[in-house]
Amino acid sequence: MINSYNELFEKNKKWVAATTQENPDFFTNLANGQSPKFLWIGCSDSRVPANEITGTQPGDIFVHRNIANMVIHTDMSMLSVLDYSVNVLGVQHIIVCGHYGCGGVLTAMGHKQVGLIDNWLRHIKDVYRLHQNELNAITDLKKRSDRLVELNVHEQVHDLAKTSIVQNAWANGQQLQVHGIVYDIKNGILNDLNVTVDNTGGMDDVYRFELPKVSEQV
Ligand code: CO
Repeated sequence: MINSYNELFEKNKKWVAATTQENPDFFTNLANGQSPKFLWIGCSDSRVPANEITGTQPGDIFVHRNIANMVIHTDMSMLSVLDYSVNVLGVQHIIVCGHYGCGGVLTAMGHKQVGLIDNWLRHIKDVYRLHQNELNAITDLKKRSDRLVELNVHEQVHDLAKTSIVQNAWANGQQLQVHGIVYDIKNGILNDLNVTVDNTGGMDDVYRFELPKVSEQV
């Protein structure tokens, strides 16, 4: 546990020294650019850092994090990250990563007002409503919240597939898979939810876009 602001810079110096010792070209190589294969959409929770839990390095994963790993289709920040990573960086995998014990999901299951965030968490209440029969049948509240974490990830995977950004990438033959996974804070294990999509096949028809005609692509 770190409490002091200055300690961040001390730790940074040690990290630079250790990293350079192991690979003298590490920072020179990274300074030349990035070509990550993965976009990670995860929770802001301090216990779920993308690189550390996947054992990856700077340069490996393009990251967007917000409370409860949400894909809200009016969120300019998420859309900009998505567009840039798919159309400029050419990522091949988008990963939505939820985690058990997510404070956002737990709050969304309850009735307490927390503040501005109530409006953000409304989207999780909508996921609950979609699956309320299944969720209400789970009497153990811990198990119910775990299931909502999984269902919420699954819903965000579909919400990514509904975007014109992802659908156009597929229509243009770009290799792009959207995955849903859950991190277990208690043991550090990542579990694939097996909800990967790479086409519009299973999508409700109303969400499916036609590919814009070439003449319209100005
Ligand atoms: Co969380």
